[in-house]
Amino acid sequence: MRRLAVENLNGNGRIMTETKEYSATQKVQRIMYSIYRTLHKIALRIVTGILDLIVILWLSFYYMAEAFILMFIPLSLRTLKSLRGRTILVTGGAGGVGQELVTRLVKYKAKVIVWDVNEKAMAKLKEKVEQDGYKIHTYAVDLSDREMIYKYADIVKDEVGTVDILINNAGIVCGQPFLDIPDYMIEKTYKVNTLSCYWTAKAFLPTMIKHGSGHIVTIGSLTGLLGAHSCTDYSGSKYATIGFHESLWTELKTKKYSAINLTMVAPYFINTGMFEGCKPTYSPMLEPKVVAKRTILAIRREEFFCSVPASSLYILGLKNYLPTKLNWLLQYRVLRLPQAMKTMRKFQEPQAA
Ligand SMILES: NC(=O)c1ccc[n+]([C@@H]2O[C@H](COP(=O)([O-])OP(=O)(O)OC[C@H]3O[C@@H](n4cnc5c(N)ncnc54)[C@H](O)[C@@H]3O)[C@@H](O)[C@H]2O)c1
Repeated sequence: MRRLAVENLNGNGRIMTETKEYSATQKVQRIMYSIYRTLHKIALRIVTGILDLIVILWLSFYYMAEAFILMFIPLSLRTLKSLRGRTILVTGGAGGVGQELVTRLVKYKAKVIVWDVNEKAMAKLKEKVEQDGYKIHTYAVDLSDREMIYKYADIVKDEVGTVDILINNAGIVCGQPFLDIPDYMIEKTYKVNTLSCYWTAKAFLPTMIKHGSGHIVTIGSLTGLLGAHSCTDYSGSKYATIGFHESLWTELKTKKYSAINLTMVAPYFINTGMFEGCKPTYSPMLEPKVVAKRTILAIRREEFFCSVPASSLYILGLKNYLPTKLNWLLQYRVLRLPQAMKTMRKFQEPQAA
């Protein structure tokens, strides 16, 4: 028999020392019991690990097969989200891609709201849409101004109603080499391209959560996947939108708000005047209507990430695997992206009224 010291705390917090005696049989029993508990825990972990692995493998196979099969199913046979009667807000909706989105969305019988800083362009668009027999709601909103965004979000809720689909499309580009970009323009680029996405989402997401449905679309850029020459501000602001989009998605998923969809659209150069003067050699600029049509399809399919053209995602992804020197060689000698940006026009402020 052996004496074992056991230390306890009594009510006064003073250490008391007790002694307990175990027989040899009891000691063996205790050791056997602790071995049994350890083995039991290990076995349980192995079994749950194997079950987890089976479930994950099965789901991986299922999701891959689903994605593969969906690629070959014609759109006419697929269930796409209906836009009829939905209230859709398009920021920067008076120009370029935004305008194309608006003129198409009204044809789906959606209630379309346009926010833009360019009042003249917005009035012109409203007139054109009305001539075609449709109606839009326009508001002069400067997306670089957080308070204005919040103010007009309240006005929209009162005057038009709950926003079902928010399309963060407004964007600006300065297009200057890093040291030539005025400080205020760096700030403004981030305010319009990135921060406005935070403020609009903060303004409209709570109601989407309350109603258990909604959709937030962000128009990013391929420069948000590959830093481009003369785009330190623009590329940075677009990278940030991807981080915002992916991060918010994980939060919504974790909180099981699965009925709220997020879509990121990352296009190549678009022929809207934003990158006027650029001469991309890899492939000609996209037409705004192509990007608008693809964006609407991505919304209706509830896609999470959509690059335009689709192949660009795989080409740009190579940068993660190739040696940096080869990466630069391809950018400079094959895609000739830096050369394409060198001829870009100087930045002009978006016109107000
Ligand atoms: N043009 C391209 O080559 C290209 C490529 C990839 C991604 N994109 C992105 O696509 C989106 C649309 O670009 P686009 O080519 O149609 O541009 P665009 O310049 O033709 O249109 C942008 C619209 O945003 C509005 N806008 C600008 N600043 C604003 C502000 N402070 N407040 C409110 N509205 C403001 C403008 O008035 C204009 O109507 C942008 O997010 C852009 O970054 C463009």
